Amino acid sequence: MHVSEAPTIPLLTPYKMGQFHLSHRVVLAPMARNRSYNSVPQPHAISYYSQRTTKGGLLITESTGVSDTAQGYLETPGIWTKKQIEAWKPIVDAVHAKGGIFFCQIWHAGRVSNPGFQPYGQDPISSTDKPIKGSQYASPRRLGTEEIPQIVNDFRIAARNAIEAGFDGVEIHGAHGFLIDQFLKDHVNDRTDQYGGSLENRCRFPLEIVEAVANEIGADRVGIRLSPFADYMDSGDSNPTALGLYLAESLNKYRILYCHMVEPRMKSVKEKHETSETLLPMRMAFNGTFISAGGYHKEDGNKAVEENRTDLVAYGRWFLANPDLTKRFELNAPLNNYSRATFYTQDPVIGYTDYPLLEDTFRS
Ligand SMILES: Cc1cc2nc3c(=O)[nH]c(=O)nc-3n(C[C@H](O)[C@H](O)[C@H](O)COP(=O)(O)O)c2cc1C
Repeated sequence: MHVSEAPTIPLLTPYKMGQFHLSHRVVLAPMARNRSYNSVPQPHAISYYSQRTTKGGLLITESTGVSDTAQGYLETPGIWTKKQIEAWKPIVDAVHAKGGIFFCQIWHAGRVSNPGFQPYGQDPISSTDKPIKGSQYASPRRLGTEEIPQIVNDFRIAARNAIEAGFDGVEIHGAHGFLIDQFLKDHVNDRTDQYGGSLENRCRFPLEIVEAVANEIGADRVGIRLSPFADYMDSGDSNPTALGLYLAESLNKYRILYCHMVEPRMKSVKEKHETSETLLPMRMAFNGTFISAGGYHKEDGNKAVEENRTDLVAYGRWFLANPDLTKRFELNAPLNNYSRATFYTQDPVIGYTDYPLLEDTFRS
């Protein structure tokens, strides 16, 4: 049978996300690749992202620092200097040349950092002064109430810079125990001002960022990533369903484009563990596009779309190891395995742009 006559699977059906006409539902999940030397995106990222681009496919960048206090890992990119903006441009152009839709994940690590990553060797900032339990990270400095507008402004400017670099929009990184999550989660946030305590207060800083970014670049170009169920970096919450639901409902006010949530089964960094908890209440409550991520294979991704439990599915590790993941889904082709050992290494090729395409496999 000719390929174009094959029955279409739910993941490969088109979807209109606001003004963006997506040709399928398979999204490149944001993944730090630690190959942006001195916080500047490098030319090798052109091949990495364009290898993973399909016409009408949505890609989200690796976490990208909003300011010089935002970094916490080796060689992650930023988007606060002119040089960084210029360095992103050819990467964005390459994705656009192949018809992709490209969002920049804007990020602040908060206390998941240490003085070595800070511009003056100072302590990293957070909602709290408690260090991450059982980790090597230093004790953070609790942000003063009056300092918070400056951090909101850093996200606003980073979003403006992303648009200047040519990105179609931004994804605010509110997941995985980083700064925004350090405000959201009651196991971390121990503030007594209007940014701590009640659910409403803990969500105030994240929602101020959403509002500022939406006002700056237009709500139709803004997404957010959240992981209410995850407890990475000692960032758990006592009632994740209530937190996720409150956020989904509050986000409706700002009419942002999408809400990207990480599945409850990705509670810990290590591996997935099945649970009866679900993203369904948040999916039902949120009016925009819903993206689910975490532990998806082809079959359960198809099922989630078919059952309308999500609009789009973001794939991390399988997409990292299979640049032509969509084509492999279409052809029911086997997948390359991923190599964990090279997820976060600094080589510009190995474990980055050297995963074989289907054609390479057939050729050899
Ligand atoms: C190498 C690597 C880097 C990651 N970096 C980020 C990141 O920068 N931002 C983010 O929100 N999630 C990040 N994640 C999480 C992924 O986006 C995704 O949620 C996770 O891998 C689970 O999905 P999967 O089972 O499809 O891989 C990263 C995951 C991996 C494997």
